[in-house]
Amino acid sequence: MIKYIGSKRKLVPHIVKLFDRLPGVHTVLDLFSGTSRVGHALKERGYLVTANDHNRYAFHLARCYVQADRERWQPQVDALVAEFNRLPGRPGYFTETFCQASRYFQPHNGARVDAIREAIAGRGLEPELESILLTSLMEAADRVDSTVGVQMAYLKQWAPRAFNDLQLRSPELLPGAGMALQHDALACADLGRFDAVYIDPPYNQHKYRNNYHVWESLVCWDKPEVYGVACKRVDCRDYESPFNSKRQIGEALAKVLSAVDARYLVVSFSNEGYLHEEDLRSMLAHRGSLSVLSVDHPRYVGAQIGIYNPSGVKTGTVSHLRNRELLFVLDRERTVDQLSLRF
Ligand SMILES: C[S@@+](CC[C@H](N)C(=O)[O-])C[C@H]1O[C@@H](n2cnc3c(N)ncnc32)[C@H](O)[C@@H]1O
Repeated sequence: MIKYIGSKRKLVPHIVKLFDRLPGVHTVLDLFSGTSRVGHALKERGYLVTANDHNRYAFHLARCYVQADRERWQPQVDALVAEFNRLPGRPGYFTETFCQASRYFQPHNGARVDAIREAIAGRGLEPELESILLTSLMEAADRVDSTVGVQMAYLKQWAPRAFNDLQLRSPELLPGAGMALQHDALACADLGRFDAVYIDPPYNQHKYRNNYHVWESLVCWDKPEVYGVACKRVDCRDYESPFNSKRQIGEALAKVLSAVDARYLVVSFSNEGYLHEEDLRSMLAHRGSLSVLSVDHPRYVGAQIGIYNPSGVKTGTVSHLRNRELLFVLDRERTVDQLSLRF
């Protein structure tokens, strides 16, 4: 899966274990699904998952990993992956924008992305199949990119992996049903009733559309005007989420907590986020019985790498390399025993 800030890659086993300990859960909504890692793991465990995110690339990841049924698509996916891997490069918008005007990818890989993306567009694939191929293409491009995992900038010196040849792989599909949605989380009341909801909002100012604008442009394939050194799509200028605002996040999260229709709410939050543990406790405690679990977690990739000046010289080290991820578990029916959730 792609490199993604705030991804719960390391936390997934804990989250699955936690859901397994909640009695009576079959349907789960992952309201801020990002890479869909969490939804994928829950689907694998047998839950009926709905994954939602307001960015288009995340919707395609969700349609691939949560909605698509492996039994239905695997043979076609394998055939298309093999066929598209044989396509020669054909430079176009992607190469011009992300290999020449900026340097996220080597031009030979940009030309392959252009050729494969045009082939996906030209085939008129069924929607789930299209999302699976777009996911395969995003992941292949991610393996040969030259960034630290966000697309606000590219590396001054090429990352060694950028010299590898782009190669599609079949994404790890799962058998069975699921659902992908692309809504604003504030509209969660319209998404229906679920046994449990997993709530993993952004927790600081970093805006996801801006951090992953290359993926947004690749899946939308609207070849938008771009601006700045990072070549961000122009709609990044207007992209807002109240969850990226220190002033608005409390009110926005409170709205979601009131509107969402589920017995259990599981909220992920970093101890470095805009809201503190006490803020979240007071937003949740009066709504049911609350348990708070804490997991030690490596910080985002930039923190692991250190602090550099614009010439690429290391000028500082980051104060700490680990943070704590907090999991707030609310049972609105007040029957779950707190101790039974410890891991
Ligand atoms: C912390 S990330 C989720 C990471 C995810 N759990 C994973 O493991 O990959 C937060 C996600 O919230 C999405 N998001 C931000 N504001 C939103 C909103 N108003 N409605 C729906 N999704 C939103 C972002 O696009 C981002 O993917």
